[in-house]
Parts: sequence; structure tokens; C-alpha cells
Amino acid sequence: MKTAGAGSGATVGATPDLDAEVLLGLVLGRSREYMFAHSDRVLMAGELRRFRSLLRRRGGGEPVAYITRVRKFFGLDFSVSRAVLIPRPDTEILVERVLDFLRLCGLGGGTLRVLDIGTGSGCVAVSIKKHFPTAEVMATDISGAALQVARKNARRLGAQVKFVHSDLLASARLGRYDVIVSNPPYLTRQEAGKRGLHFEPRLALAPNNMTPRQFFKKFLDQARDHLTPGGRIFLEIGHRQAPLMQRLARSVKANATFHKDLAGIERVAEIKLKK
Ligand SMILES: C[S@@+](CC[C@H](N)C(=O)[O-])C[C@H]1O[C@@H](n2cnc3c(N)ncnc32)[C@H](O)[C@@H]1O
Repeated sequence: MKTAGAGSGATVGATPDLDAEVLLGLVLGRSREYMFAHSDRVLMAGELRRFRSLLRRRGGGEPVAYITRVRKFFGLDFSVSRAVLIPRPDTEILVERVLDFLRLCGLGGGTLRVLDIGTGSGCVAVSIKKHFPTAEVMATDISGAALQVARKNARRLGAQVKFVHSDLLASARLGRYDVIVSNPPYLTRQEAGKRGLHFEPRLALAPNNMTPRQFFKKFLDQARDHLTPGGRIFLEIGHRQAPLMQRLARSVKANATFHKDLAGIERVAEIKLKK
């Protein structure tokens, strides 16, 4: 592995050894366990060439998930392409909070309806459906290419999710929901231009022609009219966006409470309309 990596520039990122192992596993079509057990296995010329080419891509900053085309999220393997954001561990907190709420509401009986806005790879909608199968789950995205990836993931993972092409909640096909959930594009254009993010779709990182504040406001204005009485909006937010979200929630006659991530940062806003 070390010989192959020499001169490839594959030291990008915090875990170069792990990345190289994953890429070698991809070339060999083998697990990490196999590679440990066969650490004296000599690579054939073709394997070495392919491995070096993948290391060069990684060295150029391309995320491992775009090279392997898969990322684990909530215990499930999601296919990813450059049409979608790579699912992040922080977003699992969003799914956990939604599932807690559904379990609580579910005690009352009846079918609960969930809408995921900006579904990307489908990771949020599919994970919710897999862990709370009685819910009716619908998911939207403004990107047709992202919806194709999400549909494929739902089919392969056996999750019945309905997908709709829509700019936020503009589609006439959307009704009322007990939960509206989203990991929206919440970075500024400047933040989205940072090194390390430029492989991911700009539309998934920062709102198009709007500031995050304008995007959140439009989102809340539309979402409040699609909630059932007692329903909730769950939104992933960026660090330091909690005060902004609280102000915006009040402006649509709602209250926001916040859930922290493992680093203690307020990461998920839970928004409830005032009676
Ligand atoms: C941060 S990504 C989240 C993807 C996925 N839900 C996840 O958590 O990995 C935001 C998604 O919102 C979509 N999006 C951006 N603007 C939108 C809009 N106006 N209406 C609907 N979806 C939008 C993007 O295409 C992208 O897939």
C-alpha cells in the first residue's frame, strides 16, 4: 500500500491510511478483514494501476464516498453520486429526533405523514421509513438528478417513499403532514466555496440566489400551511444559526427548541406552531 501511495499525493484528509485501505478494498473487491488476513498478497499490474489512479483522485481532494459511490447512514448503505450531498453523521441526529416524535405520536394510533424536503440521496426519508414503516413518507427535491439517486436508494433498500419534484413546497401535490423534515442548504455562498466542499453540488450546500436567512424564511412561510394541528418541523441548522431560527420561527407564530449534536452544537431545530 505504501509503495503504491508514494508520489500519489494521497495524504489529503484526516485519515489517509483508512482512505487508502477502503480504496484498495474497492480495487480488490474485498473486505478490510480479507486484506489484513492477506497482507502479503502482491498486487497485479492492473490492480496496482487502478489503485494508483484512485489514490490520485483522492489526492486531488475527491471525497472517498464519491469514489466508492456508497456511504453508510443510519446503518444503511446509500448509493451516492456527484448529484447529491454525501450524507453526514450529524444528520443522523435529525432522523433520531423525528423518530422519537413519531414514536410518541404513534401511541395515539392512525397513520402519520412525513415530508422530507431536499431529500438528496434520500437518506433521511428512507431511514425514517425503514425505522417507522407505518408512516406515509413523501420526499421532494428541486434537483431531478438527485431524485433519481433517491428513488434508486429507496427501491434497493425496500422503502416505500413517494418522490415529488418541487421547489420547496410549491408542488400542488403536497398535502398536510405531521412532520416536515429537512436538512436544507444552510451555508452562505462563501462558506460553500470552501476547499473540501467543491466536489458536492452547490445547490445542496447553499440556497440558490438567496441568503440562508431568506431561504429559511420562505421555507417556514410555506411549511406552516402544510402542518397538521400538533405537527412539527424538524430542520438541521448550521452552527450559530439557532438565534436566527428562533427569530424566524416567532415571525411565523411558532416556537423553536433545539437539539445538540455530539459536539454540543445546536444542530436540529424543532418547530411547533403556537396555538
Ligand atoms: C444539504 S442537502 C441534503 C440532502 C439530504 N437530505 C441529506 O441530508 O444528505 C440539500 C438538498 O436540498 C435540495 N434543494 C436545494 N434547494 C431546494 C429547493 N428550493 N427546493 C427543494 N430542494 C432543494 C438540494 O438539491 C439538496 O439535495
